[in-house]
Amino acid sequence: PPYRVGVVIGSLSRESVNRRLAEALQKLAPAELEFFEIRYGDLPLYNRDLDADYPQVARDFKAAIRSADAVLFVTPEYNRSIPGPLKNAIDWGSRPYGDNAWEDKPTGVIGGSPGKIGTAVGQQTLRGTLSYLNARQMTSPEAYIQLTPGLIDDEGRVTDGETEEFLRLFMSKFREYIARVLTVIPQD
Ligand code: FNR
Repeated sequence: PPYRVGVVIGSLSRESVNRRLAEALQKLAPAELEFFEIRYGDLPLYNRDLDADYPQVARDFKAAIRSADAVLFVTPEYNRSIPGPLKNAIDWGSRPYGDNAWEDKPTGVIGGSPGKIGTAVGQQTLRGTLSYLNARQMTSPEAYIQLTPGLIDDEGRVTDGETEEFLRLFMSKFREYIARVLTVIPQD
């Protein structure tokens, strides 16, 4: 069956290199994967005082997560962690206590930076959070992409053959992973 993948881009920047990476990944993905973006830029700062009367924008965010068969995080690393707005969104998705939208959600994590470390440290902090929230995670292959200028063009095409093949493999493995998880854990 086609799987609907919610794409969460860890950067709010219009010029985000990770948004570009996300576009490339969607182009290289197997045909059975369909994508939609899960946006979170309008969420207020999480405050547990609001748990009793969850804002509509946060309810919509959680509904989007729940409607996805899987979630793909494409994120930069900020100061050796994930960007604050992304963490804020994940927190909103996890509450009120006992109503965690990430529970059992199949997820994939990937990211890129201009630097050689390619978001490796940021991805590890994200994985720790997803693990605590009981999301399922494809743990391998990992993908730390050094996004040098021109590696992905304006149309989201990868200009380096080896990188293109690796990203294609990543998405093909992600499809297999989603299928496997959904066989064992039917989503609500
Ligand atoms: C960065 N950058 C960065 N890069 C990195 O590899 N490790 C890091 O810890 C950080 N920290 C960091 C903090 C902040 C606040 C900013 C704005 C940037 C550089 C970062 O990789 C670069 O700006 C990317 O272009 C960010 O990805 P997007 O927003 O273009 O997708």
